[in-house]
Amino acid sequence: MKALVCNEYGPIENLKVEDVPSPSAGPGQVVVSIQAAALNFPDALMVQGLYQVKPALPFSPGAEFSGVVKAIGEGVDHVKVGDRVMALVPHGALAEECAVDARAVIPLPEDMDFATGAALLLTYCTSLHALKDIAKLAAGETLLVLGASGGVGIAAIEIGKLMGARVIAAASSAEKLALCREHGADETIDYVSEDLRGRLDALTDKRGVDVVYDPVGGTHSEAALRATAWGGRLLVVGFAAGDIPRIPLNLALLKERAILGVYWGDWARRNPKDQQAHLLQLLAWFRKQQIAPPVTEQIPLAGAAAALQRMAGRQLRGKIVVLPGA
Ligand SMILES: NC(=O)c1ccc[n+]([C@@H]2O[C@H](COP(=O)([O-])OP(=O)(O)OC[C@H]3O[C@@H](n4cnc5c(N)ncnc54)[C@H](OP(=O)(O)O)[C@@H]3O)[C@@H](O)[C@H]2O)c1
Repeated sequence: MKALVCNEYGPIENLKVEDVPSPSAGPGQVVVSIQAAALNFPDALMVQGLYQVKPALPFSPGAEFSGVVKAIGEGVDHVKVGDRVMALVPHGALAEECAVDARAVIPLPEDMDFATGAALLLTYCTSLHALKDIAKLAAGETLLVLGASGGVGIAAIEIGKLMGARVIAAASSAEKLALCREHGADETIDYVSEDLRGRLDALTDKRGVDVVYDPVGGTHSEAALRATAWGGRLLVVGFAAGDIPRIPLNLALLKERAILGVYWGDWARRNPKDQQAHLLQLLAWFRKQQIAPPVTEQIPLAGAAAALQRMAGRQLRGKIVVLPGA
């Protein structure tokens, strides 16, 4: 089978599509013929050796996919060959096939296409956990989403609206902000050409925002925290900008603000029942067409390395889906 392979940690351009042996289904596993796999920022970090998880080399990046079960291993009785499924894996999704623990596969709803199924899990689960369990976002509150046109950003906009918040989306270009509006943002700020703090003061009559969803880091985190209201919460989701900000703690004291970490993957492993409830909530929202994963491009496996480079270079909007069979 064909797979995108990382043979050594380093520049994304070193990734190659190679012929590798097809996986077989070990006990408790299924092999899935991958129809679609979505890119996420951690994939770009992982192949460069910059992510907290460093798989043994060689490996294929890619954390989420959808497809059709091709083989089942010993002891698997709740999934059968031919089932349409979606799954999250530590890595290995950017390939034609993947062997995965059968307990990790989720039936793909009949009305969900493969591209949507591939693009749903990681980002929407992260943003639902962040806004509901960590920020405890309440109806009527104001939510600021940074890096709002990216994968977790669009999910945060849609879920924030469903939770009854007023959502302000911040991103770096007019095209990116247009996508945020299409997905429900009430207000938008171009934080490259506009002053973030000043615009937030204007949009909230100087009251400030209640919750900041921050997958970006860099210089915007402190400006956003300074623009929060009494009791404001800053969600530390990621550092796509590369810099981990050092925030003066007096900002927390002054308005009883909270700086709250979000690590969805670890939380989901520790709280499988709550994660299952979140998954059911997301599928219910999808059925009612209240969430719509923002698949902006569908590309062949041969284009995946270049797309990861564009992601690391801030040149993408929404979710890029790779179709290994294309
Ligand atoms: N904590 C968790 O559980 C968890 C789970 C999933 C993902 N994450 C993290 O969340 C972050 C976003 O992931 P994602 O998959 O949504 O990524 P994405 O789709 O690439 O979105 C990231 C956004 O960050 C902004 N950005 C600002 N400076 C950037 C730079 N120098 N390079 C690249 N992007 C830059 C970009 O928007 P603008 O150009 O508009 O600024 C971009 O849209 C990553 O750091 C990821 O590791 C965390």
